[in-house]
Amino acid sequence: MTKSRDNPLMDFGDSVFTNRDALSESYEPDRLLERDEEINEYAAALRPVVEGDTPDNIMVYGTTGAGKTAVTRYMAEMTDEACENNGNVLSIAELNCNEMSAFKVVRTLVNMLRDDGEKNFPARGLSTRDALDALYEEIDSHKGTFLLILDEIDHIENIDTLLYDLSRSQSTGRLEDTKVGIIGISNDYTFRDVLSAKTKGSFAEIEIDFKPYTADELESILSDRATVAFADGAISTEAIRLCAALSAQDSGNARQGLDILRAAGKTADDQNDDAVTVEHIREAQGKIERGNLKKRIGNLTVQQRHILHALALLEADEKTPARTKEIYSLYEQVCDQSSLDPLSTVRSVRDHLDELSMQGFADQITRNEGRSGGKYHVYECSMRSDLVLSTGPRDSY
Ligand SMILES: Nc1ncnc2c1ncn2[C@@H]1O[C@H](COP(=O)(O)OP(=O)(O)O)[C@@H](O)[C@H]1O
Ligand SMILES: [Mg+2]
Repeated sequence: MTKSRDNPLMDFGDSVFTNRDALSESYEPDRLLERDEEINEYAAALRPVVEGDTPDNIMVYGTTGAGKTAVTRYMAEMTDEACENNGNVLSIAELNCNEMSAFKVVRTLVNMLRDDGEKNFPARGLSTRDALDALYEEIDSHKGTFLLILDEIDHIENIDTLLYDLSRSQSTGRLEDTKVGIIGISNDYTFRDVLSAKTKGSFAEIEIDFKPYTADELESILSDRATVAFADGAISTEAIRLCAALSAQDSGNARQGLDILRAAGKTADDQNDDAVTVEHIREAQGKIERGNLKKRIGNLTVQQRHILHALALLEADEKTPARTKEIYSLYEQVCDQSSLDPLSTVRSVRDHLDELSMQGFADQITRNEGRSGGKYHVYECSMRSDLVLSTGPRDSY
């Protein structure tokens, strides 16, 4: 077919990407770099599974983007292979528990394990106890060993009773033919603190910590992925190095690094450049930062957004830390400009400032003027004021 002159979809230049999907959330890399120590610890913890003994429970901790999910999936695959080699029966179920109640977790697992065409476990009318009984029935029919991977386990509401029940399923005789091991993954190191004493007692686990990646480690991970995602010579070493350094600052988050690479590649394509440079990385990083901030500001109420805007204006003018009264008078002006009725009392604005401080948008500092002045609070903006001001108080959603 000949190229139609006015078809804009047939007019792109060469892309810097050969496989953009390799930078997406769902891509599973062929190899995992820089995690040998964690992989060895993990392997040792899984040894009883391979040897056909009762599995130990395992808790994996680490910050976002530290490779917990990726390494766990890899370990599941390796365990499966090793068990097959040994002639052990192994089944694995993995579930991301984000925003789920204990009931929903158990119900989802039951439905995952039931064969196609079998009746779904009902969403209403039955209790978590009923769902657990159904789950044990499914698990017990698998025989051998069963590994239950609960990703983002700290997100489960009322996790305590669930873990207590699961970790006692063998001793209480609910499971007869299958040995179950639980692998929990959590961003939250204080996860264990929310468990009751009796659950802590029965859910004895081996803990594996994933440290945040260093800039060097991120550089090797990102370089490796870039060779899959980008065309030969379509990204410079300096660009990858900068991207690694920026993500190392963001608590060593590999996900952040991959997101920046993808956005930078898109920027290069949009500008018809044939390689991703340091400038593209900076631009992409700024865009992502603004996007994240916008999302967070979008979750605030309209009044809170106006208060934050006033605080950012003071910050940009180097007039912070500021007292509530000063913030209030600027806030009135901001409201006036965007035709919003301001809150009528300084006190309600102070309450919102405290709430903004709790949510990490502002910093509250206590001043003490001794006997005469008494105690009062001053506030600073804890986000970059230029980023806050780059969106109007009305238009960030
Ligand atoms: N060691 C590694 N080698 C290659 N890719 C990695 C590595 N660690 C993380 N990644 C990639 O970074 C992203 C985030 O990792 P993930 O396992 O989801 O982090 P977590 O579960 O700790 O938040 C994924 O796309 C993953 O493929
Ligand atoms: Mg994860």
